[in-house]
Amino acid sequence: MENFKSSLSNFLLRRHVVSEDHLFLRACWREDVERTPVWLMRQAGRYMQAYQEVRAQHSFLEMCRNPRLAAQVTLQPVERLGVDAAILFSDILVLVEAMGMRLEFQEGFGPRLHKPVRSMDGVDRLRVPEAEKDLAYVMEAIKLTREKLRGRVPLIGFSGAPFTLASYVIEGQSSRIFRFTKEMMFSQPEAFNALMEKITSAVIDYLNAQVRAGAQALQIFDSWVGCLAPDDYERYVLPHMQRIFASLDARGEVPVIHFANQAATFLEKVRVAGGDVIGVDWRIPLDEAWRRVGYEVGIQGNLDPLALFAPLEEIERRVRDILDKAGSRPGHIFNLGHGVHKDTPEEKVVALVKMVKKLSAR
Ligand code: CP3
Repeated sequence: MENFKSSLSNFLLRRHVVSEDHLFLRACWREDVERTPVWLMRQAGRYMQAYQEVRAQHSFLEMCRNPRLAAQVTLQPVERLGVDAAILFSDILVLVEAMGMRLEFQEGFGPRLHKPVRSMDGVDRLRVPEAEKDLAYVMEAIKLTREKLRGRVPLIGFSGAPFTLASYVIEGQSSRIFRFTKEMMFSQPEAFNALMEKITSAVIDYLNAQVRAGAQALQIFDSWVGCLAPDDYERYVLPHMQRIFASLDARGEVPVIHFANQAATFLEKVRVAGGDVIGVDWRIPLDEAWRRVGYEVGIQGNLDPLALFAPLEEIERRVRDILDKAGSRPGHIFNLGHGVHKDTPEEKVVALVKMVKKLSAR
């Protein structure tokens, strides 16, 4: 009876949280919706004129560190595109910076982390930050964004996943083959694991703090995990992912999207790792992906971002195809399979969101 009462009150609590909103949150919980919600990874970014205007005055990291600018830019796609969720304007690498590494974004090069970590000594020098204090500017940006949104759409907070963050910590920059990451994984497994443990602890505290600040959903980006063999994913990554999902204070109340890029060959393992919604890229048909992860989780995706360079008729054909593959099953959130490319024509992005809304109306 006690058990029943507590699960009933949990249910009512969650319903209460959910019911004041929001197509997107309802879809995350696989509830019935009037149409498919849509938002886009990197929806705030360089393809957008309004973003460029702010960016001309400030560096990218200045924008991340200034809550007023971060909130302003977070709202741009809500107003311009009419997406069903906002995502905090920040970067996955600010967490690594708070762990003690020096971070720079170099024009035309991307992120650079100084003194990459390639041994146990390096791991020992990193610290697990206290997000509320050390990343206070992120928490401020969340609070301010929630105020400015005034309940129009929910706000998604996010973190990089441990493997993706570790790859930057070890390589010191973006990579294609992850030579140093895999070298450390295969030849110093203890040091690699200690690094993953430390990053995992940092991610857990960071995500919990974001929820306390007002994030209404979370996405974990495992952008580069697709470079791994399935066995290596299972052995070196999956246990850390499970610890994250088990350690989120708001599990069951704040939905978590687990985006694992290029992981189609081991999607079942991604599902075992956790998440209320699994985000997939375009390299697998959406129906096959959903069947493989099972219908007890939602699915997010999965238009090829480069399809937005095609004529409108071709975009529409592909949108219809994805919506068909999702069927009328509750739990689909429309998104791209990765971030909006910076050269994408802005009007195509506007058209895409309109199309999804129109074509998915039940
Ligand atoms: O999605 C959003 O609109 C929210 C903001 C957001 C950014 N980065 C803004 C950004 C999010 C969620 C991220 C996450 C992020 N950052 C990831 C995971 C998602 C993914 O794309 O796989 C990764 C791997 C990073 C690291 C990163 N940040 C790289 C590799 C780059 C350079 C990319 C490039 O095209 O030059 C960034 C920079 C970055 N992050 C920009 C933006 C808007 C461009 C910065 C600029 O204005 O110069």
